[in-house]
Amino acid sequence: MRVLRTVAALRKELAPARRRGLRVALVPTMGALHDGHLSLISQAREDCDVVVVSLFVNPAQFNERSDLERYPRDESRDRELAAASGADVLFAPSAEEVYPAGFATSVDVLGVSERLEGESRGAEHFRGVATIVAKLLGMALPDVAYFGQKDAQQVVVIRRLVADLNLPVAIEALPTVREPDGLAMSSRNALLSEVERERARSLSAALEAATRLAAAGERSADALLASGREVLEGAGVELDYLALVDPDTLEPVELLERPALLAVAARVGQVRLIDNAILAPAVSQTSKGKAIQTCSA
Ligand code: PAF
Repeated sequence: MRVLRTVAALRKELAPARRRGLRVALVPTMGALHDGHLSLISQAREDCDVVVVSLFVNPAQFNERSDLERYPRDESRDRELAAASGADVLFAPSAEEVYPAGFATSVDVLGVSERLEGESRGAEHFRGVATIVAKLLGMALPDVAYFGQKDAQQVVVIRRLVADLNLPVAIEALPTVREPDGLAMSSRNALLSEVERERARSLSAALEAATRLAAAGERSADALLASGREVLEGAGVELDYLALVDPDTLEPVELLERPALLAVAARVGQVRLIDNAILAPAVSQTSKGKAIQTCSA
């Protein structure tokens, strides 16, 4: 695996593959790689000929300085993990390479950026994400870019960005990878104390409670959200939001009539965590019966 630090070196490395019409994958990361990232790299390895993993802790998307300072960094560990999962190139540019003197452009994806995380963290967060993702896509010019569904809103924002700017790249979102007890893998989990780690489990437990209720036939968003909130309140975490929204527009949903995104954000001590699940309405016995009759008719 090659480690490259400049856009010029990355372009030079990828030029022969591009001339031969090979498929290039990009897995953008901020490092502190965990099994979620590794699943993206492995999938990219399966789907494409050349796999580039980018590693850049993007200061522009951190709305809290302390969060940026605390963010876990260990490049040599990341290098080993990326290579072992099949990356061909680790692109790890400096902040000066990404934002040289005079840099003056930012990308704002309106609407979908403004809800949930946008409301909590302010417009800078997704402006920072959209700008760096647009830049990384411009730097590597991949055929496919891979993201984790754990950052569901980020995926929605990036899909909007790619569609609106006519960027010739396919966006793949892969399922959240979880610890055995359900906690979604996140680079920030490394910052949790033992007690906080236990409390953090309540995020996925809240999603599970609402999922069970939906599977039992409950369709009211109020009731579904109340079941999740009860779990979180009992766990001693500071809830930021728990919301049931349309998975494409992120508009609030009042009645679960089609699959909807249940998204949660909470602070566990100093660490802010997010998670989500897709809730689907239960298929009623009557409609099941009808479906069977239609099939056998
Ligand atoms: O999901 C992340 O790790 C980051 O938001 C991304 C997409 C690498 C942009 O910095």
